[in-house]
Amino acid sequence: MGSLIVLLILSYLVGAIPCGLVLTKLAGLGDIRSAGSGNIGATNVYRVGGRRLGVLTLILDALKGVFPVFIALQIGLSPIEVALIASATFLGHCYPVYLGFKGGKGVATGLGIYLVLSPLAVLIALLVFGAVLWRWRYVSLASISAAAVIPFLILGLEGSFPLFFATLFIAAMVIFRHRGNIERLLDGSENRFQA
Ligand code: G3P
Repeated sequence: MGSLIVLLILSYLVGAIPCGLVLTKLAGLGDIRSAGSGNIGATNVYRVGGRRLGVLTLILDALKGVFPVFIALQIGLSPIEVALIASATFLGHCYPVYLGFKGGKGVATGLGIYLVLSPLAVLIALLVFGAVLWRWRYVSLASISAAAVIPFLILGLEGSFPLFFATLFIAAMVIFRHRGNIERLLDGSENRFQA
């Protein structure tokens, strides 16, 4: 039990590393939280700092999700323990202790987590993401749509209820963290993606 708590804290601290903020500061772009949408995630880094920095943020934020869950599986933790590690990592990204608990929306970190749990589910969810982005050109709407389908894909493909509930929690949090985007989508003021 004690070692699980230590692993949960470590997972949270890894998830909490604000890659987008660090990268944009290193690139001399100032504080990403006061530019674009104000989010520290890859979409806003792309918007403010360009493609290379945005893609790098996406990769690093996703890796934050990959490592704790991958290690949890490798050391043979139970599905419930893996689900807790995944949730702690994800919460780290959304509520980072380093930034006064004001973090990102969790899409890239969730992607990394999902990738370890079920690559096939991610592949299908990416098709949903791509189709919605192609049709409407809103990253937020594409993220919300992919988040909404992935827990059910994971349940269908992996058949694990602990992982289903963890991914349902993560998906619900991703949608909740997009509430500002949802308001903007509804009033027509959301930023469209520009490649
Ligand atoms: O991953 C976040 C994305 O879905 C929306 O980002 O910056 O447009 O709020 P942003």
